[in-house]
Amino acid sequence: MQIFHKIAPLRAFLAEQRRHGKTIGLVPTMGALHEGHLSLISVARSQSDLTVATIFVNPAQFNNSSDLKNYPRTLEKDTELLEKVGCDVLFAPETSEIYPVETTLSFDFGTLDKVMEGKFRPGHFSGVALVVSKLFHIVEPDTAFFGQKDWQQFAVISRLVSELNFNIKLQSVPTFRSKEGLALSSRNMRLTPAQRETALVLYQSLTEAKTQLLSGVPVDVVQRNVEARFSGLEGVSLEYFEVADSANLTLLNNVKEAASPILCIAAFVGEVRLIDNMFLLSQHS
Ligand code: PAJ
Repeated sequence: MQIFHKIAPLRAFLAEQRRHGKTIGLVPTMGALHEGHLSLISVARSQSDLTVATIFVNPAQFNNSSDLKNYPRTLEKDTELLEKVGCDVLFAPETSEIYPVETTLSFDFGTLDKVMEGKFRPGHFSGVALVVSKLFHIVEPDTAFFGQKDWQQFAVISRLVSELNFNIKLQSVPTFRSKEGLALSSRNMRLTPAQRETALVLYQSLTEAKTQLLSGVPVDVVQRNVEARFSGLEGVSLEYFEVADSANLTLLNNVKEAASPILCIAAFVGEVRLIDNMFLLSQHS
C-alpha cells in the first residue's frame, strides 16, 4: 500500500494511474477502522482498479470539542488493517495540510440539514461537506463509497455532488453490524462491555418500530413506544427517533407519504453518542 501525508505527491501518483486508464474508488474515513469501514474498502475494491482510503479526523465537523478530543486515533493499527484487506493507497494528512488557512466557507443544505443530525449537531454537515469537497478535488475519484449507517450524510453528499457538478458516482454500502445487531462505529471503542449490551437498544428499537409500522401502527404511537423503551433503561438517553422520506429526509407522520421511508435513531449510551437507521421496506438493514 502506498501511503501519502501530503496532497502534491498523492495527486502526482493518481494522475499517473489515471494516465494508465485506472479507475479510482475513494473511501473517506476518520480512522479507528472497524469491519464497517473495511466492508466499504471491499466494495470499492470490487468496483475500482485502485482504492484510495483517507484517514482524517476533520475538526470542522465536530461541534463538541470533547468529542473531537476523545475521538479514537489508531493510525498504526488502521494502516495494518488497510494493508491486510488490499487497499492500494492511504492518504492520512495532518490538519494543516487540509486547512492551511482558517476556512471561511460554509454550506447550507436547506431542509436536509435542519433535521435529526443537522438539528442536534449544528454546523456538522457544513464541516462534512467542506472536507468531502476537498477530498473529491484532491483525489478526483470515479466513485466514492459511503456507509448507509450515516444515511443523512449520504443524502447531504448526494446533494453536494449534484449542486456542485462533481463528476463522481456515489455508492451507499449497507450497515455492518455485530451478530447481535449493534451497528459498528468507531465510537463503540469507548463503550464498556456492559454498555455495548445496553447499546443494542438502538437496533432493537428500530427492529420493533419497523414491525409496528409495517402492521399499521401510526408513527406518533411508535415514537412514544420507543421513548417508553428508553425511559425504562438506565444509562441511556434517547435524542431522537424519526421516520423520514429517505429521498429528501422530510419527516413523516404517515409512512404512506413516501416511497421509501427510513427509521432513524440517535441516543447517548453513557457519554457516547450513537446513531443507527433502517429502511422500512428493504430487506437489508
Ligand atoms: P467515519 O465515521 O469514519 O465513517 C467513514 C465511512 O464509513 C462513512 O461513509 C460511514 O458511513 C461508514 N461506516 C461507518 N460505520 C459503518 C458500518 N457499521 N457499516 C458500514 N459503513 C459504515 O463518516 C465519516 O467518517 C466522516 O463524516 C467523513 C465522511 C470521513 C468526512 O469526514
